[in-house]
Amino acid sequence: MRRWIVVLLVVLLSVLAACGGGGGQQAAPATGKGDPIKGEQLFVVTCAACHGPKGEGVQGLGKDMTTSPFIASQTDEQLLEFIKKGRDTSDPANTTGVAMPPKGGNPALTDEQLLDIIAYMRTLQKK
Ligand code: HEC
Repeated sequence: MRRWIVVLLVVLLSVLAACGGGGGQQAAPATGKGDPIKGEQLFVVTCAACHGPKGEGVQGLGKDMTTSPFIASQTDEQLLEFIKKGRDTSDPANTTGVAMPPKGGNPALTDEQLLDIIAYMRTLQKK
């Protein structure tokens, strides 16, 4: 499993290197904190399995992020705290009966990387 993730990361990084950072840049809302480009890579590796590659959600797993009023209502700091804690099924705030694991199940993620992911999540939100 771990091997698979490493392979995926290497493939992603080489694809990104091939793009040369030129045309692939996406305009992101300026939060001034995270880097949505780095965040996308981390999101695809850690979060997409449950939330979908574009945050559209996966039936029976992670919630749709594109229309989430929760995400829209939270500051980056609040989302950082939320992601670090997750939302277990025992949490009264849980809405699906499925657990959101702390840091999406990847304890190696740093605050900085989580802020990158948050910056990317903001780009997924439909207004
Ligand atoms: C194992 C599956 C899984 C993974 C991996 C996962 N999540 Fe989740 N996530 C969930 C589930 C399930 C919920 C909904 C919990 C509930 O019932 O309220 C959720 C909810 C959320 C919410 C709140 C959405 C809302 O509208 O309430 C955010 C934000 C979030 N996840 C971010 C992330 C991020 C960022 C990552 C990667 C670091 C991640 N998740 C990885 C399963 C997952």
